[in-house]
Amino acid sequence: MSFIIKDETGIARMREACRIAAEVLDEIGPHIRPGVTTLEIDRVCAEAMTARDTRSATIGYQPPGYPPYPGHVCTSVNQVVCHGIPNSKPLKKGDIVNVDVTVVTPDGWFGDSSRMFEVGACSIAARRLCRLTYEAMWLGIEQVKPGARLGDIGHAIQKFAEGHGLSVVREFCGHGIGQKFHEEPQVLHYGQPGTGEELTPGMIFTIEPMINIGKRDIKELNDGWTIVTRDRCLSAQWEHTVLVTPTGREVLTLSPGMPPVPSFVKDMGSVIA
Ligand code: MF3
Ligand code: CO
Ligand code: CO
Repeated sequence: MSFIIKDETGIARMREACRIAAEVLDEIGPHIRPGVTTLEIDRVCAEAMTARDTRSATIGYQPPGYPPYPGHVCTSVNQVVCHGIPNSKPLKKGDIVNVDVTVVTPDGWFGDSSRMFEVGACSIAARRLCRLTYEAMWLGIEQVKPGARLGDIGHAIQKFAEGHGLSVVREFCGHGIGQKFHEEPQVLHYGQPGTGEELTPGMIFTIEPMINIGKRDIKELNDGWTIVTRDRCLSAQWEHTVLVTPTGREVLTLSPGMPPVPSFVKDMGSVIA
């Protein structure tokens, strides 16, 4: 009902935008080390976008009630849940950082993906949070097929995260995406199975759970963008853009440099070269 169904042309454009977003993330890995600033990561991403004839969808992005977002990407370190603004503070050993890349192609199609990066050796707790959040995202992705409902995705993520003693942030969600950055519907990362809108082929949306080690409550900082955990506990997030296909799903933001798909995922609906 409120979903935009993409046709073959739109799907082809989205495959391209999403592949590029993933390739930009692939370029970051070698730069992650103690001493690097998130502003330097922002610069690497901006150059990788330009090299692929795309631009950042986030810089200058200004939803109602927000100041214009100042970064080419979002860089969310440790207790930052999402929308962290790149800055000149060096990363240090043991930090975890989410880099969230959204590109827009010259003909106006958006691709959106994010990953966690570990700076040097991280604590067991931090690594566990990143791994479990990755698995939670993939469990959500596995629910995607025609006839499934949005609540199935949220439920799979919530059950897994809470079953491991983690909490799911409620205030931010996945979203439809295409010729707009954020479209209908909202893809909640919690919920009840069998509820919410039914999925049909041609829908494209993101799944991007934000998961905390401590309580789920959040707080917005005075910059108008940065979201932190209220109790300042660590938070992690991963994001893929996913197409509903006639038989299941195709993850559009795959790339050679992403971490291996968890072994429990049987059919990821696509093949990486
Ligand atoms: N890329 C984020 C998402 O996954 C949105 C970032 S909006 C920004 O939806 F303005 F903070 F960059
Ligand atoms: Co998104
Ligand atoms: Co994103």
